[in-house]
Amino acid sequence: MFAIALPDDADEVAFRNAARSCIARGLAPADVAFVSPDQPSLLPALPAEAPDGSNLAINVPRSFADLMRDAVCHSAADRFALLYDVLWRILRGEHDLAERASDPRVAQLMDYRHAVRRDIHKMHAFLRFRERSIDGHAVYTAWFEPHHHILRRATPFFVDRFTNMDFVIATPRGTAIWQGGQLSFGAPAARQAAGEPDDVLDGLWLTYFRTTFNPARLRTRTMVNHMPLAYWNNMPETALIPGMVMNAVSRVSGMMDMDADQPSLFADRIADRKTSGPIADAHAAGSLEAMHRDAQGCTRCPLYRNATQTVFGEGPRDAPVVFVGEQPGDQEDLAGRPFVGPAGQLFDRALAEASLDRSRAYVTNAVKHFKYEPRGKRRIHKRPDAGEVQACRWWLEGEIAAIRPALVVALGATAAQALARRPVAVTKLRGPYDFSGQRGFITVHPSFLLRISHDPGDALATREYGAFVRDLMQIGELVPALRA
Ligand code: URA
Repeated sequence: MFAIALPDDADEVAFRNAARSCIARGLAPADVAFVSPDQPSLLPALPAEAPDGSNLAINVPRSFADLMRDAVCHSAADRFALLYDVLWRILRGEHDLAERASDPRVAQLMDYRHAVRRDIHKMHAFLRFRERSIDGHAVYTAWFEPHHHILRRATPFFVDRFTNMDFVIATPRGTAIWQGGQLSFGAPAARQAAGEPDDVLDGLWLTYFRTTFNPARLRTRTMVNHMPLAYWNNMPETALIPGMVMNAVSRVSGMMDMDADQPSLFADRIADRKTSGPIADAHAAGSLEAMHRDAQGCTRCPLYRNATQTVFGEGPRDAPVVFVGEQPGDQEDLAGRPFVGPAGQLFDRALAEASLDRSRAYVTNAVKHFKYEPRGKRRIHKRPDAGEVQACRWWLEGEIAAIRPALVVALGATAAQALARRPVAVTKLRGPYDFSGQRGFITVHPSFLLRISHDPGDALATREYGAFVRDLMQIGELVPALRA
């Protein structure tokens, strides 16, 4: 039996060379022990002189090459022996062995592959560079503590992205240095080698992290699963997380109460200009159908320019209840009908649970055109500003005047603001409300419930959804004609 010395961070090339040398000598797995070069061994080392055939080409199936590439990076001491065993059997005719998860050795290697890939992913996601000046030259340094020997595998990702910056990634298992377009690997580093924090860079990153944190999307358990606590030490932003988690609930209430944005420049003048002319005449005539038709040509605010069409309200002209949302979303804009997208589906589900019949209600929006920001191929909803809400109130008031419902329900802050003509805090005023003589009701917007519900069984989402259904049931009690 021979000892084969392979360094801890041996990659697939080093393993392949060692394996080739053993195979050329006809050494079966039981004849070799893979040891670390620093480990004293009583076994003889392989003779230095190369046997015939030591440079023989070994053709292995792609499935084995893929498995080897990752599994060889695992930190388990038996990885080389397992790989050699599987390789030996493949070369003896078990060609598809590396795909056979039922084989205990292959299954073990597949587990190693999974762990290594996960470690690489974590390094790509959680490594943070800090700028240092060395001899007046900017060098970016990072400290990371991987679980496996992944430095060689994970570093090309950073080279591709930061080709023009010199960097050092220090880990307890080795160091990667990218300098002047050359990549080299060195000895393990002590933690301090990664350098002191850079206040400016850290400050910028923390500001970015803080402003992009959405408390309504907070899922603590998922966050900790994805960003295990073991990595937090090296990530400056994690110091902010406990405080942000503590404040998340109150910030979500604040979001629910938030007013529409500030009016755009000249919004008042645009609105004034539009209160006369043929549209005004249709409005005065009080005909829902005429208003619906005329609204198709509405140019009262600039939103018509980018929207596909006006999305007017729909429902019976004598509906006992008018539900008012914010503005059409992406799907409503394409369909030309309110509340048909994801928020509409949630709304339908809640109405059904509250035993209310949507077909007996009139459903509309405070703003009739979709406001969005293009992002790649997607159109991202953008809150209408107060000027746009004001300009569109013309249509909303026309709809209500024509229908004369027993109750008008504001879904969310924008609708409440449009109806009350002033900013309204939904959490404070939730429930029955008098909109200047019109009997009304204020509740949350279904999109808010969608924003907070990501994990099934999420406590906040379940609680808020339940409260919304209870609001709808109360509406059913106020206006029994709406009940299914
Ligand atoms: N959100 C709204 O406020 N209205 C819709 O029609 C759809 C989503």
